[in-house]
Amino acid sequence: MDNVQEILIEKIGKKRVEHSIGVMETAMELAKLYYVDMDKAKIAGILHDCAKYGDKSYLLKRASDFDIILDKIMIENYQLIHGPLGAEVAKEDFGVKDEEILNAIRYHTTGRENMTLLDKIIYLADYIEPSRNFLGVEKARKLAFENLDKSLIYAMDNTVIQLIKTSKLIHLDTIKARNYLVLKENSMDL
Ligand SMILES: [Fe+2]
Ligand SMILES: [Fe+2]
Repeated sequence: MDNVQEILIEKIGKKRVEHSIGVMETAMELAKLYYVDMDKAKIAGILHDCAKYGDKSYLLKRASDFDIILDKIMIENYQLIHGPLGAEVAKEDFGVKDEEILNAIRYHTTGRENMTLLDKIIYLADYIEPSRNFLGVEKARKLAFENLDKSLIYAMDNTVIQLIKTSKLIHLDTIKARNYLVLKENSMDL
């Protein structure tokens, strides 16, 4: 894993690697709590941002190198591209073959309908890792260790609100992820 961190520093820089270590450690804690494979959480956590580099044209080029089909919203909101691109980079440059890990990396920027436990853990760990500091992060942190789905709904609601406030596009997978979780929570209340 030390070697992975060195390669990552060259690719995405020291600051992002420090964030990734925070995500890895938080993901492992959550994995332990929710009985998810801790090794998978560790790998997905450290590598989740492995393709977070370059400007828009570089990201588009890399995505096309890997034959990734990007929808209009991803092209416009290009910060989302490092999710699907990261899965391919993790496979090619870091030899990750496990589809569960690759999907957790692939969907960490948008979420998706019916997320796996590992998807949820990586999405949330990215949101709440120790260096995160924004209004509401404490509540998300507390919720994450009490109720994974409630914490995700809270994180996604905040994300959508921010996107609306800044007049940005909302990816459909985020809406689908959120709606799926809200429907599930509502059916539990019945
Ligand atoms: Fe990311
Ligand atoms: Fe991240």
